[in-house]
Amino acid sequence: MDLSDRVALVTGGAHGIGRCVVDRLAERCRAVAVFDLAPREEPTASNVTWHAVDVGEPEAVERGVREVAERHGGIDVCVNNAGIMHSEPLVNVLDRDDRRHRLDTWRRVIDVDLTGVFLVTVNVVDEMVSRRSVGVIVNISSVAAQGNPGQSAYSAAKAGVDALTATWGKELGVHGIRAVGIAPGFTETEGGAAALGERALAERVRQTPLRRLGAVDDIAAAVLAVIENDFITATTVQVDGGLVL
Ligand code: NAI
Repeated sequence: MDLSDRVALVTGGAHGIGRCVVDRLAERCRAVAVFDLAPREEPTASNVTWHAVDVGEPEAVERGVREVAERHGGIDVCVNNAGIMHSEPLVNVLDRDDRRHRLDTWRRVIDVDLTGVFLVTVNVVDEMVSRRSVGVIVNISSVAAQGNPGQSAYSAAKAGVDALTATWGKELGVHGIRAVGIAPGFTETEGGAAALGERALAERVRQTPLRRLGAVDDIAAAVLAVIENDFITATTVQVDGGLVL
């Protein structure tokens, strides 16, 4: 896909991996729209627009997608990156009061990491199909989709995201719309460090064949590669230094 006249939407683009993807896409696309909870912290390129949208809120997502499509004349590329990385044991044997995984944290992670991907995509694809335009959906998954101890909700959400990528790739190919997943391994971001902590991350580095954490650039480069390659769809590409959980 030649990106020069294209419009991209990136969710969770204020920090970490999303922010790097926004910067890379802004160099190539006509316009990049960002959905995030957090306000913009640093200046970005002049073709980037910011929208305060919680991807877990159906009305906010519908309104946000309509606004972007009307302002820029459509959406060609959608990167579903917003996510929360929550760690919580299924049963915490050290907690004497309430040992069980909380339902509210389970629901919030599923709402943002899985339902958020569905909500953004259903609105974006509806817009693509009504304009009869080709397009690409990139879903940011995780190595945790293989099953990561201590992350029930997050692992389930990401495995669900992989299923959506496969389903949408097969279902939407007839419209010329591709769906591709990128599954990062442990990557140096604020969100990653907060969810796992230094000791757990150091242990993951020891288990990774390339013996380092991913950099946001490693992941953004993979996102750009699958957007630009028009024959990749219905699959999730692992970008994890060879780590197998
Ligand atoms: P981060 O926490 O550094 O940044 C996430 C961004 O998403 C933030 O700007 C945050 O405000 C935004 N966000 C969170 N909830 C949102 C919501 N409900 N609506 C809109 N925006 C929201 O995270 P990071 O590390 O950059 O992760 C990005 C994606 O990569 C996530 O989907 C994460 O699950 C995935 N990932 C990250 C890994 C890591 O080690 N950092 C490993 C594998 C996957």
